[in-house]
Amino acid sequence: MTANGTASVGDELVASESRLRAILGCTKGIVFEFDRDARYLNLWTHEESLLARPRSEVIGRTIVEALGEEVGRPLAECVRRVYDTGISETLEYELVLRGGRRWFLADILITPPTGGRERTVAALVRDMTAHKQLEEQLRQAQKMEAIGQLVGGIAHDFNNILTTIVGYSELLVEGLEKGTGMRRHALRIRQAAERASGLTKQLLAYGRKELLVPEILDVNIVISSMADMLRRLIGEHIELRLELDPQLGGAKFDRAKLEQVIMNLALNARDALGAGGRLTFRTDSVELDEAFCTQRVECSPGSYVLITATDTGKGMDAATKTRIFDPFFTTKEVGRGTGLGLSMVHGIVKQSGGHIEVDSEPGRGASFRVYLPRVITPPAVAAAADLRPPDATTNGHTVVIVEDDVDVRQLLDSHLRSAGYNVVVADDPDAALQLARTLPIDVLVTDVVMPKMGGDELALRMRELQPNVRVLYISGYPEDPRVAHVPRVPRSVFLPKPFTRQALVQEVNALVEMRS
Ligand SMILES: Nc1ncnc2c1ncn2[C@@H]1O[C@H](COP(=O)(O)OP(=O)(O)O)[C@@H](O)[C@H]1O
Ligand SMILES: [Mg+2]
Repeated sequence: MTANGTASVGDELVASESRLRAILGCTKGIVFEFDRDARYLNLWTHEESLLARPRSEVIGRTIVEALGEEVGRPLAECVRRVYDTGISETLEYELVLRGGRRWFLADILITPPTGGRERTVAALVRDMTAHKQLEEQLRQAQKMEAIGQLVGGIAHDFNNILTTIVGYSELLVEGLEKGTGMRRHALRIRQAAERASGLTKQLLAYGRKELLVPEILDVNIVISSMADMLRRLIGEHIELRLELDPQLGGAKFDRAKLEQVIMNLALNARDALGAGGRLTFRTDSVELDEAFCTQRVECSPGSYVLITATDTGKGMDAATKTRIFDPFFTTKEVGRGTGLGLSMVHGIVKQSGGHIEVDSEPGRGASFRVYLPRVITPPAVAAAADLRPPDATTNGHTVVIVEDDVDVRQLLDSHLRSAGYNVVVADDPDAALQLARTLPIDVLVTDVVMPKMGGDELALRMRELQPNVRVLYISGYPEDPRVAHVPRVPRSVFLPKPFTRQALVQEVNALVEMRS
């Protein structure tokens, strides 16, 4: 500080100027200053990568010169308007930079004249790319959710109808003499109904309404035990490579569903590879952090088992990529693709708390990454089932059926009767409880979702009357919260609709043989 103090004013000015510069320099995004002709006077940023061209190339030029007509013109016009009217505006625009396409949001405002300089226009520009991408993902997720609900709803009703068709055509087949035309017709009906039921299952999976039986899996073992089958499936002209991480840890997932996921990825790779190439399944254990998850919808941080399926096939363009998980979206010729494979994969993975994404460019192959929730505990050996060896005394046992769909009810009745059980049909849960007061019951076969009393409550109340009753729950609504709880009741089993006669009888037999 000097004696007369004049230099201190200068010092302060310099200090405050550099302070301002520092603040502008570390603001996220870019601050530009323009004249009326949208000529760059100044710019401040610490993210040089956000600039379409280096600072030295733009200062003194106009926006149109720097960014071209298409992007530059609307910006230049906006700058002029703000200059003339003094009213701020906001403008969105896109640029293709070295790192790819980016979205920007510019607040354009007037700065008052200072120290003999004319007024200028300032643009505060923020990079909105991450935002945009998240928004896009959210839109996708909402779309999938809406379609999922629609499709899942239809699939439920179909499930009931198909249970009836499969069941009765099975009875027809059994009742008709071998070699007759009639029997062949009945077989056709059954086959068609089973095919329809397969499709319905995929739709239910897309709608995340499948009954999953998660267990702790060693994904490496699941993949390597499928290797032979996969090689046959994809053919000799395609090389199958496995790169499995020995330190993987377990994944919490439904085993049969994981096999379906792997199969579908392999089949798609086969179709994309055509003449030949390579398909690699790789496993890794990864940690997903906040930063990763905030950029994605429905993704929570934590440990995951990552399965990457990479092929060297024809790849896909951006438009295809946004639609591959939609049900019935296929680029394959009629009869070759159903467009349900990846829809199902997506539904299953999401329903299990996992995550799936894809990288692909036309001609550059495709890479699907499937993240499954990881658990550190080693995969357990399947717990020994609470079963005694069959003792051939299953007949003569009494089964009570409670099911509000008349067709399904009659079907259950005839299936179990023909298997040798004493069958009593109850119209509703109250009637079943009434029966239980007088009749010894071995197995209760009940629908889970019923209007007056749910199957779970019925089972509990029946257990109060007859503690040894075994329960077979059947339902076409595996996602219903009531269904989610039922498997925890001891000596009970859940059978999803539609089922075959064989599956039904097997379950009831097993229940009868279960130790009290
Ligand atoms: N590995 C891949 N490489 C290139 N395109 C793929 C790959 N996997 C899936 N696709 C694209 O996604 C679409 C949907 O796949 P999917 O749901 O399995 O149905 P589908 O196989 O019946 O066509 C395919 O038709 C294809 O265009
Ligand atoms: Mg497919």
